[in-house]
Amino acid sequence: MIIEPRMRGFICTTSHPEGCAQNVKNQIEYIKSKGAINGAKKVLVIGASTGFGLASRITSAFGSDAATIGVFFEKEPAEGKTASPGWYNSAAFETEAHKAGLYAKSINGDAFSNEIKRQTLDLIKADLGQVDLIIYSLASPVRMNPTTGVLHRSVLKPIGDVFTNKTVDFHSGKVSEISIQPSSGDDIENTVAVMGGEDWSMWIDALKAENLLAPGATTVAYSYIGPSLTEAVYRKGTIGRAKDHLEATAFAITEKLADIDGKAFVSVNKALVTQASSAIPVIPLYISLLYKIMKEEGIHEGCIEQIQRLYQERLFTGKPVPVDEKGRIRVDDLEMRADVQEKIAKLWVEAVTENLSEIGDLEGYRKDFYNLFGFDVQGVDYKADANEMVNIESIG
Ligand code: NAI
Ligand code: NA
Repeated sequence: MIIEPRMRGFICTTSHPEGCAQNVKNQIEYIKSKGAINGAKKVLVIGASTGFGLASRITSAFGSDAATIGVFFEKEPAEGKTASPGWYNSAAFETEAHKAGLYAKSINGDAFSNEIKRQTLDLIKADLGQVDLIIYSLASPVRMNPTTGVLHRSVLKPIGDVFTNKTVDFHSGKVSEISIQPSSGDDIENTVAVMGGEDWSMWIDALKAENLLAPGATTVAYSYIGPSLTEAVYRKGTIGRAKDHLEATAFAITEKLADIDGKAFVSVNKALVTQASSAIPVIPLYISLLYKIMKEEGIHEGCIEQIQRLYQERLFTGKPVPVDEKGRIRVDDLEMRADVQEKIAKLWVEAVTENLSEIGDLEGYRKDFYNLFGFDVQGVDYKADANEMVNIESIG
């Protein structure tokens, strides 16, 4: 069928299998162009189908010839209905990995559940024996705690005071002022339960209990800090509390892994357009200014460039992993450069509907957004019939 983008609010409800496949191939080519990375060989990626997790899976496989198991939660296709983009990404990834002679299997389901953890442990036991790198890259609005049965919903709210600032509707380009009410009730606890470190810890405990972690195994989860402009709604808001918890969890896991000399890290990554970040008010305006300046400076990076640098220049150098004063790996260094942030702060004050497409990279924002769903990808014929019924080889 002919597949076109169909928008509902801030999300796109269709995705293009060939566009997604082309995105994956482009990322693979990028990794190959950067040369071999002396990294882990048996890798579990939790949240492996889009964004930073997909980039991590690609970097391990095509940078270090690693066997990968990917866990994700995606919608499969039905006749006349497209799958979610992560499904098509994972199908394309497996096809390319298998062509290259690499082991790659995937598990589609709720990574927070005991059932999906059980399936994953069994697969590692049967096929890989142990894993030496575990990437934890989930982004989800809800989590059912498997122990208590409680369903937690995360919220993106400031804490304490109403937060008022500029935002942009990136579809129309309209800049306006928005006020976000502060968190109340159990908002903070719920957000920490979904996006904090509890589930990461549960995964590592489960793997360790069954001796599935290789000696010296490393695990990495992803975090974000960002500038003072977005602090009230991000790092000092409810999601920031969850990130604080995630970062504290890294230390707790490292302690638990002392006997096998294992280590847990949080890597602070750059702000990028993903399904999650486009739903956060204020952030799209910040990203459109950030993109403009980083592109002008020749220092713009997407997920794949970020993760390539994380592996090559931080994790697998043969030397101790460089961290900041809080023990975190930083690959947001270019975003946070003082000159970049000073320029954004200046543009922020000036930004209005009439000038944003000039002083900000609204076009780049939109393109990245459509790319997430496999649209607007160079080399893809969108007028041609596309087959929506794509299998993931290991799922069938
Ligand atoms: P994403 O939305 O692209 O990827 C999320 C992944 O989690 C997908 O593979 C999805 O299938 C999977 N997933 C979601 N719920 C699941 C569930 N219940 N069971 C199994 N899999 C599930 O998100 P993105 O942006 O790559 O985020 C990953 C991490 O990186 C998050 O911790 C995020 O906070 C962090 N991060 C994101 C930044 C950004 O600007 N996008 C910046 C810095 C860090
Ligand atoms: Na991810």
